[in-house]
Amino acid sequence: MSQGREKYRITGGKRLAGRVRISGSKNGADYSIAAALLTGEDVVLHNVPEIGDVRQMAEILVHLGARVDQPARGTLRVNAANVSRFDVPPRLAAQLRASFLVMGPLIARFGRASCPPPGGDAIGIRPLDVHLAGFRMLGATIVQDGDAFDAREDGTLRGGRVVLDYPSVMGTLNVMLAATLADGMTTIVNAACEPEISSLASMLNAMGARIVGAGTNRMQIEGVRELHGTEHRVIADRLEAGTFALAGAITCGDIEIEEAVPDHLDALIWKMREAGATVEPTGAGVRAGGDGEYSGVNAQALPYPGLATDMQPQLAAFLTQANGASTIYERVFDNRLLYISELRKMGANVVATGQTAIISGPTKLRAAPVHALDVRAGSACVLAALVAEGTTEISDVYHIERAHEDLHGKLRALGADIERA
Ligand code: EPU
Repeated sequence: MSQGREKYRITGGKRLAGRVRISGSKNGADYSIAAALLTGEDVVLHNVPEIGDVRQMAEILVHLGARVDQPARGTLRVNAANVSRFDVPPRLAAQLRASFLVMGPLIARFGRASCPPPGGDAIGIRPLDVHLAGFRMLGATIVQDGDAFDAREDGTLRGGRVVLDYPSVMGTLNVMLAATLADGMTTIVNAACEPEISSLASMLNAMGARIVGAGTNRMQIEGVRELHGTEHRVIADRLEAGTFALAGAITCGDIEIEEAVPDHLDALIWKMREAGATVEPTGAGVRAGGDGEYSGVNAQALPYPGLATDMQPQLAAFLTQANGASTIYERVFDNRLLYISELRKMGANVVATGQTAIISGPTKLRAAPVHALDVRAGSACVLAALVAEGTTEISDVYHIERAHEDLHGKLRALGADIERA
């Protein structure tokens, strides 16, 4: 990933209208690439977004000895027949949270894996206790070797009952991935329920795994001796879809968001409608917009199916245009309100108290130089800039581009005045 100096220059005030097609999910793609380590046969992934995070995940697999090629745009073919290393390089671990997800498959298939504590967005403390406790419950030994977690398993992992302290998304995935090749039955209690988990379970079942209950908080995995290759289509990115829904509403526009799955956006749609925006399922996705007559709402960011923490900064940007006070209580990460400083530079009336953002509106936003502090904070700046008076310059957009495929191109096609330079 280039941490370049690219910026977006957005001149606000354009109404966005038209159709946009949502790309494959960033996280869904990363999870599927990690899962390809569970077999020596080809795994072909479709609807893979061309974004920084996916390139880095592929780079990790290549480092491990897998072959990764791109037979067509949006398609990746992964073959992990010749894995010869079991360590994630510190440079890639530092940049990509999903890097830790190679641990489960490597332990399960090869009995060893090593990864430094992963980096990723600076959005709060991001412990790994759920992952490590899960691996230990399945019989792995974990030691900290220098900076890295080193996992070993001399025989075969043994299925068992794993009760997660918190429904961590990647913690659930790591245990699920490891358990596919364990001896016997694993039950994960208090599992995370995100749609990307159900999607990955479907992919694993197509590879010969026996997983039931994915998408609920109690999942069962009956271990099998080996998995085989498959083809899998990465699900649509619900966070990109939600960002476009908010772009439709904040610009008083009318956007048809193709491939958006309404069920995956329930909590956001609920809040947007409560605020007065129009969001309707169509046969092909979701249609979103509004007339600008919005009122403040109270929202809480929670594990799925609650409102996604990955949507709360963008929701806050939208609520700067709503009448009255809104509150957003961030309950997943302990430091995910930093974007407020950037919205305030644009004139937003937002304060943070503890884990809660209090937004008073409506505010006429003004252009200002702002930073994309992380993926979602950057998306919030983009939304604010779409309605700000003047030309907003957003720097560090490489953060946004880690997760969004061609955001500026898609916005421009909908009528936004946006340049990438
Ligand atoms: N947690 C623990 N122990 C653990 C792991 C997590 O207590 O072992 C706590 C964390 O401290 C945090 C909460 O659990 O308070 C949620 O963390 P979780 O493990 O669920 O998050 P994650 O799996 O590390 C994924 C996404 C994030 C997304 C979260 C929550 C990836 C690569 N990242 O992270 O995505 O915010 O789930 O939905 O899958 C993004 O896309 O912008 C992004 C940050």
